[in-house]
Amino acid sequence: MHPFARARHRHSPAGEASANEAKATTGPILEGGWRYDLHGWLLDTFWFRGQGRELRRRAATLARLRPGEQVLDVGCGTGTLALEVARRVGRAGRVAGIDPSPEQIARARAKAARRHLPIEFQVGVIEQLTFPDQTFDVVLSTLMMHHLPAPLKRQGLAEIARVLKPGGRLVIADFTHKQDRAGQAARFHAEGSSLHDLGALVADAGFSQVETEEMAPARFSAFPGAGLLRAHKS
Ligand SMILES: C[S@@+](CC[C@H](N)C(=O)[O-])C[C@H]1O[C@@H](n2cnc3c(N)ncnc32)[C@H](O)[C@@H]1O
Repeated sequence: MHPFARARHRHSPAGEASANEAKATTGPILEGGWRYDLHGWLLDTFWFRGQGRELRRRAATLARLRPGEQVLDVGCGTGTLALEVARRVGRAGRVAGIDPSPEQIARARAKAARRHLPIEFQVGVIEQLTFPDQTFDVVLSTLMMHHLPAPLKRQGLAEIARVLKPGGRLVIADFTHKQDRAGQAARFHAEGSSLHDLGALVADAGFSQVETEEMAPARFSAFPGAGLLRAHKS
C-alpha cells in the first residue's frame, strides 16, 4: 500500500465531484500535497539517487516536445512533470494536468502559480477526460499506470486516443514490474508495469510505432528500475 494512498475512495459519480472532493475511480488516489512532495524528494534524493527526477526528464525528452505544442499530463499528482513540460513548450504552448485528488491538484496549482506558469490543473480521471476530441499533440503519464486495474487501463488509453490529434504522441513511464526486479529494488512497495503488457495494451488502443526503453537502477540506488514507452496515434 502506498503511504499516501487515500484510505477509502468516495463514490460520488465521476463528473459530480465538488472542488474539494476526489473523483471516484477504482484505482488508488494519492494525497498529501506538500507532504507527498517532501516525502518524494527525500526518497528520490537519498534512496533513488535522483533517478525519479531523471525519469520525468527522460519522459519529457522522449515526447520530443516542441515550443507551442498542447500537452496533457494524466495522473499529474502535484504537477512536477507538468512544470518541466511547460518550460519546454514555452508561452505559446498549452499544458494541462488532471488527477482525481483535490489535494494534489491544489498543490500543483500553487507550484505553477509561484513560477507564473499558466498550467491548467483539473480534478479528473483518465477514464473520463473532459477535453474535446483531438485537443492535444502529446499526452504523458508518469508512475500512474500501475495504479489502475486492467479494464481501467483500457478505458483510459481509449480516452487518451480520443483527445490526441492524429499523429499525436503518447509517452508513458512506469516502475519496472515488481516480479521482474531483483535485490533491494524488489523491496520497494510500488507494483510497477510490464513494458511488454503495456505495449500490447497501447497497440490494442490503436496506437502505432510503439517504442520502449528501459532505465536500470544506478549503482547504490534503491530505484526499482523503470520502463518508458512512446507511441503515435494512427
Ligand atoms: C505515484 S502518483 C504519480 C504522480 C505523478 N505523475 C508523478 O510522476 O509524480 C500516481 C497518481 O495517479 C493518480 N490516479 C489514480 N487513479 C487515477 C485515475 N483513475 N485517473 C488519473 N489519475 C489517477 C493518483 O491520484 C496519483 O496522483
